[in-house]
Amino acid sequence: MELEEYARIAAAEDEHWWYRSTRALMAQLLAPWLEARSPATTRILDAGCGPGGNGAWLATRGTVVGVDLAMEALEFVRARRPTTAPVRGGLTALPLADASFDMAVAITVLYSVPDDDGAVRELARVVRPGGAVLAVEPAFEALRRAHDRTVHGLRRYRRTGLTQLFEGAGLRVQRATYAYAFLAPPAAVLGLLERRHEPAAANARSDLERRPLDRLFRPLASRERQWLAKHDLPVGLSVAVLATRT
Ligand SMILES: C[S@@+](CC[C@H](N)C(=O)[O-])C[C@H]1O[C@@H](n2cnc3c(N)ncnc32)[C@H](O)[C@@H]1O
Repeated sequence: MELEEYARIAAAEDEHWWYRSTRALMAQLLAPWLEARSPATTRILDAGCGPGGNGAWLATRGTVVGVDLAMEALEFVRARRPTTAPVRGGLTALPLADASFDMAVAITVLYSVPDDDGAVRELARVVRPGGAVLAVEPAFEALRRAHDRTVHGLRRYRRTGLTQLFEGAGLRVQRATYAYAFLAPPAAVLGLLERRHEPAAANARSDLERRPLDRLFRPLASRERQWLAKHDLPVGLSVAVLATRT
């Protein structure tokens, strides 16, 4: 990821509608695990934690370990997120014991890991039997934009591909759905405009610099979560897979 993006995420992650909505989606999908036991005995892994905003939120529900490869990310966690334990490590060789977590989340992380297969196997290894693994990742190659270059995104997933990755790691998939369907049309148009008007290697840009439609997107995300409480979505800018270790 471009180094400036860590600071952009750190500045945005508490208030930006996407982060708040994604935490609400996590709360919805992980409710059976988050509500099953006391925070005092719940252990949560925030894999590829970045500057730690999601981890700080998860820390209200349990003891959180945030793992990231980038020192820049962990420095933000150390400076600003006292309730998260930062650990330097790669997702494909987690420096963590087998079956030591009740939940593991990877939010927009697997798409930038070359061996995403190995990363999901590691997430499965560190979660206890009956525990949950949740990933929310960018979806559809056709929705690739300059932002993908900024975050060094190697791929965007289809629901079937991400599901297969989880099943290949021995996990039992409970939910596999797209999310942020209302963002797919604007993302497609933006990607098209960027490809037309910028040369292939033009300066990368970050979605976090685009804020004018926040007020519109926040309520749309809330309505979409109501739908997701009962149904899957057939398309979206993101894809979420929730699985359990057997
Ligand atoms: C787009 S950021 C997302 C951060 C955070 N999960 C969030 O939702 O704000 C991706 C993060 O994954 C980390 N990352 C990428 N590849 C990794 C790997 N192989 N092992 C550990 N962390 C990795 C990056 O350093 C970065 O902090």
